[in-house]
Amino acid sequence: MKTPVRIGLFGAGNVGTHLLRRLDETDGVEVVGLWNRHPGRWAEWAGKYKVVAEPEEMPPADVYILALKDDVLEPFSQRLPHPHVLTVHTSGAQPSYVLRRARRGVFYPLQTFVRNRPVDWTRIPILVHAPVASDESFLEDLARRLSPMVYHVDDAQRARLHVAAVFASNYTNAMVQMAREIMHEAGLSADMLTPLMEKTFRNMLDDDPARVLTGPARRGDRRTVDRHLALLKEMNREDLMKIYREVAEWIMDKYGPKGD
Ligand SMILES: NC(=O)c1ccc[n+]([C@@H]2O[C@H](COP(=O)([O-])OP(=O)(O)OC[C@H]3O[C@@H](n4cnc5c(N)ncnc54)[C@H](OP(=O)(O)O)[C@@H]3O)[C@@H](O)[C@H]2O)c1
Repeated sequence: MKTPVRIGLFGAGNVGTHLLRRLDETDGVEVVGLWNRHPGRWAEWAGKYKVVAEPEEMPPADVYILALKDDVLEPFSQRLPHPHVLTVHTSGAQPSYVLRRARRGVFYPLQTFVRNRPVDWTRIPILVHAPVASDESFLEDLARRLSPMVYHVDDAQRARLHVAAVFASNYTNAMVQMAREIMHEAGLSADMLTPLMEKTFRNMLDDDPARVLTGPARRGDRRTVDRHLALLKEMNREDLMKIYREVAEWIMDKYGPKGD
């Protein structure tokens, strides 16, 4: 039997807790220690795994995974013991070299994680990167134990991918929140939009989004676009007006007037 991969995990936030649940159900891995700034967040696991009070107390391992807030990665990495342990972070936005370690890399699960919302790891791409080839293949092997979807994506590509992910996920969420606010202001239940959203996503996932886009800006119905802008002004929603105008112009520039 192969010796298990020993892992020290830092961070009990959204990603850290989901990662530990997955590691816990995965053969061939051994979690040698857990650390969090507020150690009580590991309470439900403390009977099963060693929770260390200080990062310096983490036992040696094959890899340290830092599932921590982006801004603390660099200073935090300098506090870690066992300088030759490969150390990775889980951030899409940060380069590997933010970690001040001899051996470093990235282990980025491309999904939105919320602590108490279940996730399906078999549908989570894991993007790995390490400057040293042997470290990168080690990370690939570890990732394959957690998910069948594993990709090698270097720092420069991942930086761009992360911007794309913000558009695809965070901004989609923001758009839906704006739509819900408008429904509420009109005294209507936002749930009425659910079938529309479901169909829109299904169409985009099943086909090229460019082929399934509809709506006034796509049709070049400028008078309808202007009416919507006037309505948002009347509702004192200059904030939404700005966004509506920018997106409508992006669509009209891209597709041009249809003139039908
Ligand atoms: N959530 C996502 O959807 C997602 C997806 C992919 C990748 N990521 C990446 O994964 C990493 C963690 O994200 P998350 O969503 O899990 O964040 P989170 O839920 O906000 O958790 C942040 C973690 O950082 C710790 N922390 C905050 N300030 C600290 C400090 N000054 N010193 C030491 N530890 C500190 C927190 O400790 P306390 O518990 O003590 O506050 C917690 O363990 C980030 O790099 C993020 O970019 C997130």
